[in-house]
Amino acid sequence: MEDWSFVAVRWGIYSSLGLFFGIAGFNLYSSPARQVRNAKRLLVVMALFALAFSMAGFALMVAGMAGTTVSDIDRELARSILRDTSVGQAFLVRMAALGLATVVVVATECTSSAAKLATTGLTGAALGSLAWNGHGAASEGWMAWPHLIADVVHLLTAGAWLGAIACLLALVTRQWITHADLSAARKSLVEFAPVGTWLVALLVLTGAVNTGALLVAADPEEPEQSRWLLLLAAKLVVFAMMLGLAALHRFRLAPGLEAAVESGQIRAARRKLRMSLSLELFGGLAILAVVAWLGLLEPGW
Ligand code: HEM
Repeated sequence: MEDWSFVAVRWGIYSSLGLFFGIAGFNLYSSPARQVRNAKRLLVVMALFALAFSMAGFALMVAGMAGTTVSDIDRELARSILRDTSVGQAFLVRMAALGLATVVVVATECTSSAAKLATTGLTGAALGSLAWNGHGAASEGWMAWPHLIADVVHLLTAGAWLGAIACLLALVTRQWITHADLSAARKSLVEFAPVGTWLVALLVLTGAVNTGALLVAADPEEPEQSRWLLLLAAKLVVFAMMLGLAALHRFRLAPGLEAAVESGQIRAARRKLRMSLSLELFGGLAILAVVAWLGLLEPGW
């Protein structure tokens, strides 16, 4: 029987840390005219969610291990996890990186290159540290490091992709007051296309390493394990849907926006883009829900 509150909190951790890193990264690599307005507000919200979900996740994990409730947490056990285990040390690194990133986001306007670089680096460290929490750190022998590194890259590319989709959605959703707003949204969509291709290639490559490492080590006898494979298949179906939507933006909807500027049909073109980017973001968040559950099952076939 699954502990659904733990699955929900794990989903919150992946979503908030992934978006925090992805939005900070988008802010870093896109030119100033093409960045999300009020990015600071968005980053502060993500920082608060990331801190809250991370603490809730740790509290639920300790309570689950000790068989107590969160309100009655075993402090001695919590201290020994923090001191003696890699999961505890990764949690400390995550909280320190998130705390510092929050200070940078709150104390600066997030417009200088140094502030953007610091936020992206710190949130990347926090997101990457999640690899020590799950199956990414489960391999032994010669596969241990390649699996762990692939998992860190998998986490970072997933966050970068979802954060970019959220920023592109914000760009097509905001009021286009001037012609410059419209041109910024159009250029962002075009500029993101090659970045998106690289991110997808890295996701597939590191996802394949992850799958191979976990299946090679698995014992195929346990009935529970077929559920892991079924969920992984569901994740890949949603991923294929997201790829279809990404191709639709790139080859139909973004060029459609160009044509709409000429013909004066901007509202309809923009509505279609908003709808498909929302669906793509929803697909990504659904994948994170599947991943939050997958990490608690025994991998195998
Ligand atoms: C070909 C595509 C992909 C494959 C083969 C793949 C495979 C995997 C596998 C096997 C795992 C480990 C599951 C476990 O812990 O039991 C995993 C984890 C994960 N995947 Fe994917 N994946 C793919 C695409 C994606 C996409 C598109 C996203 C997000 C948009 C994503 C996000 C994640 C995240 C966040 C984790 C958790 C990593 C961790 O906790 O350390 N994956 N993936």
